[in-house]
Amino acid sequence: MVKVTYVAHDGTRTELDGDPGDSVMSLAIAQGIDGIVGECGGSMMCATCHCYVDEDWAETAGPRMDGEEDMLESAACEVTERSRLSCQIKLTEALDGLVVHLPEEQV
Ligand code: FES
Repeated sequence: MVKVTYVAHDGTRTELDGDPGDSVMSLAIAQGIDGIVGECGGSMMCATCHCYVDEDWAETAGPRMDGEEDMLESAACEVTERSRLSCQIKLTEALDGLVVHLPEEQV
Protein backbone atom coordinates (compact mmCIF):
# COMPACT_ATOMS: atom_id res chain seq x y z
CA MET A 1 0.00 0.00 0.00
CA VAL A 2 1.08 3.53 -0.70
CA LYS A 3 -0.48 6.19 1.52
CA VAL A 4 -1.35 9.52 -0.08
CA THR A 5 -2.74 12.54 1.77
CA TYR A 6 -4.84 14.99 -0.22
CA VAL A 7 -5.12 18.43 1.36
CA ALA A 8 -8.14 20.34 0.07
CA HIS A 9 -8.00 24.08 -0.43
CA ASP A 10 -9.84 24.56 2.87
CA GLY A 11 -7.22 22.51 4.69
CA THR A 12 -9.24 19.29 4.98
CA ARG A 13 -6.90 16.31 4.84
CA THR A 14 -7.95 12.95 3.41
CA GLU A 15 -5.65 9.96 3.60
CA LEU A 16 -6.02 7.18 1.02
CA ASP A 17 -4.25 3.90 0.42
CA GLY A 18 -3.27 3.24 -3.16
CA ASP A 19 -1.30 0.57 -4.94
CA PRO A 20 1.98 0.96 -6.78
CA GLY A 21 1.15 1.87 -10.36
CA ASP A 22 -1.94 3.89 -9.48
CA SER A 23 -1.66 7.56 -10.28
CA VAL A 24 -2.38 10.27 -7.74
CA MET A 25 -5.28 11.25 -10.00
CA SER A 26 -6.79 7.77 -10.47
CA LEU A 27 -6.69 7.06 -6.74
CA ALA A 28 -8.45 10.35 -6.02
CA ILE A 29 -11.14 9.70 -8.63
CA ALA A 30 -11.72 6.14 -7.43
CA GLN A 31 -12.21 7.37 -3.88
CA GLY A 32 -14.29 10.44 -4.73
CA ILE A 33 -11.88 13.16 -3.70
CA ASP A 34 -13.35 16.56 -4.53
CA GLY A 35 -10.83 18.84 -6.09
CA ILE A 36 -9.47 16.43 -8.70
CA VAL A 37 -11.54 16.13 -11.86
CA GLY A 38 -9.33 14.21 -14.27
CA GLU A 39 -11.48 15.02 -17.27
CA CYS A 40 -9.25 13.34 -19.88
CA GLY A 41 -8.71 10.19 -17.87
CA GLY A 42 -5.00 10.71 -17.52
CA SER A 43 -3.90 11.24 -21.10
CA MET A 44 -2.47 14.69 -20.42
CA MET A 45 -5.14 16.44 -22.49
CA CYS A 46 -6.60 18.61 -19.74
CA ALA A 47 -5.27 20.21 -16.59
CA THR A 48 -8.15 19.27 -14.31
CA CYS A 49 -5.93 17.03 -12.22
CA HIS A 50 -3.65 19.89 -11.19
CA CYS A 51 -2.11 19.52 -7.75
CA TYR A 52 0.73 20.99 -5.75
CA VAL A 53 3.21 18.47 -4.42
CA ASP A 54 4.04 19.21 -0.79
CA GLU A 55 7.49 20.76 -0.54
CA ASP A 56 8.76 17.85 1.57
CA TRP A 57 7.94 15.49 -1.32
CA ALA A 58 8.98 17.57 -4.30
CA GLU A 59 12.28 15.79 -4.79
CA THR A 60 10.91 12.27 -4.35
CA ALA A 61 7.99 12.95 -6.70
CA GLY A 62 10.51 13.94 -9.33
CA PRO A 63 10.38 16.43 -12.16
CA ARG A 64 7.48 17.07 -14.52
CA MET A 65 7.04 14.70 -17.44
CA ASP A 66 7.45 15.81 -21.04
CA GLY A 67 4.45 17.86 -22.05
CA GLU A 68 3.23 18.47 -18.53
CA GLU A 69 4.55 22.00 -18.49
CA ASP A 70 2.54 22.96 -21.60
CA MET A 71 -0.68 21.43 -20.32
CA LEU A 72 -0.32 23.16 -16.96
CA GLU A 73 -0.61 26.47 -18.80
CA SER A 74 -4.34 25.82 -19.06
CA ALA A 75 -4.77 25.10 -15.34
CA ALA A 76 -7.58 27.07 -13.70
CA CYS A 77 -5.48 28.13 -10.72
CA GLU A 78 -2.05 29.58 -10.25
CA VAL A 79 0.78 27.34 -11.40
CA THR A 80 3.81 27.24 -9.13
CA GLU A 81 7.08 25.34 -9.17
CA ARG A 82 5.34 22.59 -7.18
CA SER A 83 2.49 22.23 -9.69
CA ARG A 84 2.04 18.81 -11.27
CA LEU A 85 -0.57 16.96 -13.26
CA SER A 86 -1.55 14.34 -10.71
CA CYS A 87 -2.22 11.79 -13.47
CA GLN A 88 1.48 11.84 -14.22
CA ILE A 89 2.57 10.97 -10.67
CA LYS A 90 2.60 7.19 -10.47
CA LEU A 91 2.65 5.68 -7.03
CA THR A 92 5.67 3.69 -5.94
CA GLU A 93 6.71 2.45 -2.51
CA ALA A 94 9.08 5.41 -2.36
CA LEU A 95 6.07 7.72 -2.41
CA ASP A 96 4.44 6.13 0.65
CA GLY A 97 3.30 9.11 2.75
CA LEU A 98 3.07 11.52 -0.19
CA VAL A 99 1.18 14.75 0.48
CA VAL A 100 -0.44 16.75 -2.30
CA HIS A 101 -2.36 20.00 -2.01
CA LEU A 102 -5.37 20.68 -4.20
CA PRO A 103 -6.13 23.97 -5.94
CA GLU A 104 -9.26 25.97 -5.20
CA GLU A 105 -10.80 24.94 -8.51
CA GLN A 106 -10.00 22.85 -11.57
CA VAL A 107 -12.18 24.37 -14.27
S1 FES B 1 -6.33 13.90 -16.07
FE1 FES B 1 -6.17 15.18 -17.78
S2 FES B 1 -4.14 15.86 -17.69
FE2 FES B 1 -4.32 14.64 -15.93
